[in-house]
Amino acid sequence: MSAIQPPRPQQPADRIIAALDVPDVDRARVLVEKTRHVVSFYKIGMQLQFAGGLDFARVLVGEGLNVFLDVKLLDIDNTVEKGVENIAAMGVTFATIHAYPKAMRAAVQGRGTAPLGLLAVTVLTSMDDADLNAAGYGSTAEDLVEQRARDAEAAGMTGIVCSAQEVERLRKVLRPETLLVTPGIRPAGSDVGDQRRVMTPADAVRAGSDYLVIGRPIAAAPDPGAAAETIAAEIAAAG
Ligand code: C5P
Repeated sequence: MSAIQPPRPQQPADRIIAALDVPDVDRARVLVEKTRHVVSFYKIGMQLQFAGGLDFARVLVGEGLNVFLDVKLLDIDNTVEKGVENIAAMGVTFATIHAYPKAMRAAVQGRGTAPLGLLAVTVLTSMDDADLNAAGYGSTAEDLVEQRARDAEAAGMTGIVCSAQEVERLRKVLRPETLLVTPGIRPAGSDVGDQRRVMTPADAVRAGSDYLVIGRPIAAAPDPGAAAETIAAEIAAAG
């Protein structure tokens, strides 16, 4: 089934997806207002979804902004399919599905021909090989990411979410049109927090990331607008 693909970033700043990882819609609105002169793409994740974030997603879409609904779906096929049908109707640009082949195929079915980009979550960037081992997986994060990325392409997904550290390897094996969206971005000298497989914005772009998901380096900065400007300049300089 061929869907209309979401546009690739045109300007350097279009590569930034700012994560609205804040407790409520009021604070999300403040963050949007402080950054929208630079940022046109916002991610609404678990925290905000449980505090009015789905309605806020519709509001942002109505204002012409791009929204990434980070729902990380995984359920039986019928539930995923119907869930994605409703997400597609919201007019958001991206949504995430865990990279299990059946769930991804169901999501693609639910999207139909809607202009919704479906992104496969390969391995969370907070997990390293030891974390995977503790969860019962025998493979390394790198190998599991590659396998899941190939499965995502086979299922008809738009792209994948992975660490920027994996992008160079993946670009060699994936189709050029597969979007690579990378969280775990940390400008030089910033706090890594719970992330494990991190990269700077410039290095992520040079490696071949299409979009950079940036949370705390913008949201927790004393001046989020200035932080976004600095990151946009770094991306532009990286070419
Ligand atoms: O604050 P930070 O920049 O680490 O935020 C990264 C964002 O990307 C968070 O919202 C997190 O949930 C999300 N994410 C991630 N790793 C993935 C998928 C999503 O860090 N594999």
